Amino acid sequence: MASLPILRYPDPKLHTVAKPVASVDARMKGLIANMLDTMYEAAGIGLAATQVDVHEQLIVIDVSEERNVPLVLINPEITWYSPEKHRNEEGCLSVPGIYDGVERADAIKVRALDADGKEQTLQADGLLAVCIQHEMDHLLGKVFVEYLSPLKRNRIKTKMLKLQREDRE
Ligand code: NI
Repeated sequence: MASLPILRYPDPKLHTVAKPVASVDARMKGLIANMLDTMYEAAGIGLAATQVDVHEQLIVIDVSEERNVPLVLINPEITWYSPEKHRNEEGCLSVPGIYDGVERADAIKVRALDADGKEQTLQADGLLAVCIQHEMDHLLGKVFVEYLSPLKRNRIKTKMLKLQREDRE
């Protein structure tokens, strides 16, 4: 198992639309293990394959306090959104240090394959619902800062590019 490099906004590769996973084979299981390692090491609550430059529909999540309840969603589809929505503060491992409000459905129903390739359906609310919607956006090439105003987004872009220059120095 290994930790993978995470793409940083505004890397254009973050805007790639992910393709469905064809089969949950040994390669996919290796990728799942590495993505879980990467998420735990970065102290994140979710990670989409897009963020590690793999453009297939796979996300890993763990919103538990103890960090021991991993959730793997392959080819996820949201089949229901609650009409109730709220703005929640979100952050992203690809946009380190930036937190801002995004409006999301309070609850959702999701259909996906699990880490063994079996179909699962789940209903999520609270932080888990927010996290799944955020990670599924990544698979569509969308980063949460794209919900913010162009002014805020440009400020974030400038800040991220400056940080990345400093990292290289
Ligand atoms: Ni993210």
